[in-house]
Amino acid sequence: MPPDVAPEPLIPPAARWPGRPLTGLRLIGAMRRNMLSIWGPRAYELPILHGKLYGRERILVNDPAAIRRVLIENPSAYEKPAPTRRLTRPIIGEGVFLSEGAEWRRQRRVLSPAFTPGHVEQLTPHFAAAAEGLIQTWTRQGRVQLFRTLQEAALDAAARSMFGLPIGGQGARIADLVRVYGRGPGRPTPFDMIARNEDDFAWFAPGRRAFRRRWLKEVDQIVQARRARGSDGRLDLLELLMAARDPETGQPLSNAEIRDQAATMLAAGFETTAGAMFWTLYLLARDPAEQARIRQEIKADPPSASLAEVGRRWPRLRRAVLEALRLYPSAPLLFRTALEPDRLLDVEVPTGSIVIVAPWIVHRHRKLWDHPDAFMPDRFDGKEREYLSGGAYLPFGAGPRICIGAAFALTEASIMLASLLDRHEVRLDDDRELEPRSMITTTPSIDPWFRLERV
Ligand code: HEM
Repeated sequence: MPPDVAPEPLIPPAARWPGRPLTGLRLIGAMRRNMLSIWGPRAYELPILHGKLYGRERILVNDPAAIRRVLIENPSAYEKPAPTRRLTRPIIGEGVFLSEGAEWRRQRRVLSPAFTPGHVEQLTPHFAAAAEGLIQTWTRQGRVQLFRTLQEAALDAAARSMFGLPIGGQGARIADLVRVYGRGPGRPTPFDMIARNEDDFAWFAPGRRAFRRRWLKEVDQIVQARRARGSDGRLDLLELLMAARDPETGQPLSNAEIRDQAATMLAAGFETTAGAMFWTLYLLARDPAEQARIRQEIKADPPSASLAEVGRRWPRLRRAVLEALRLYPSAPLLFRTALEPDRLLDVEVPTGSIVIVAPWIVHRHRKLWDHPDAFMPDRFDGKEREYLSGGAYLPFGAGPRICIGAAFALTEASIMLASLLDRHEVRLDDDRELEPRSMITTTPSIDPWFRLERV
């Protein structure tokens, strides 16, 4: 190839649509298999789509201005709908993620100061320690299934940064528990679609309650171990939560609230960040030239030199993470229910409608992106702010309910990935086809094998 011809960009796998629109029970069956494969080509081309399912209006919103109206300009007219709460409550619990109205505002007010970039930066040594643990595992194994390994590493990073403790053997147990939930009780059923509130037909999903009990027991064990150990002088999130005060009332969080918020942060944070790291490494294994450029950047300023400003220290690496989150957003579908009538573009939104903002679709929309299916991290070069505020790039959501852990996640991913890529070349060692899937987060349909070569 002549040197001035740019190589073709990588087109990594997308979800496979069955080829015809699905309705009724077929649609529910497909949703139970993969929430990403139910959308036909029109969803990726039109600004808005609407139709009825089980008598309720469902509106998929792709237009950036309409998305801004739902998430940023008129958020009090919408809340998380019953199916979302039914499926995520067992794992996300009572914390800020699922609260609404005045209670949500109070919780968010108390928690926000703990997640400022300044505080997150102080947690960096915990992320670095988790990265070191992961590298030790890899060096021993050589050939690894990255998805599972990164989930356990992200749990370790979360446990260290939130509770100052390595996760040890509990990490594999928790990761398994969450995987089993996603494959079983966490799948949507027709009852979830017709339920008007969280408790309707609760008898139909006893596995969710059993999961909740086991999950809270695991989190309780971690919080108790941390409290028993006391502080070791290094800042962790639990300490920040214990010190947190409502800026309006001066009230601290109760013990039960601290446990619930910790469970929420663990649940909302580990699978999502593990997914971002997995997809970044998967894409870089498929694009070795980009991986080599990123390694060069990291070698010029290795993580061992200092742990300052890691979130922005390796801009090329950061662009790859942002592009991985575009192609494989960890939270691919955001659901809302309309609490009052609204209008989005030329579509009337009756009270009770389900409104869907789907980062999965918006990020691959034909009218919003050049080469939407291609891995082209340089598209973010100098444009990160523009993309993040434009309404077409929403890996962390938008508006008042934007992800509270975004800086935490990007800092964790940067330090973990930089530590790994600094010392290892990551190669895919698996010919099997892979498809992105989602129940709650975006996961690969298989856990492919990778080979790691020391560099
Ligand atoms: C790459 C990693 C992550 C991604 C892609 C992600 C994505 C998101 C998205 C899209 C939302 C908005 C949901 C909605 O509007 O319906 C959200 C909310 C939230 N995230 Fe994350 N998240 C990540 C990591 C984290 C981490 C590490 C934590 C905690 C340490 C966290 C805690 C939360 C919480 C508590 C909320 C609810 C905020 C509220 O409703 O006020 N997330 N996240």
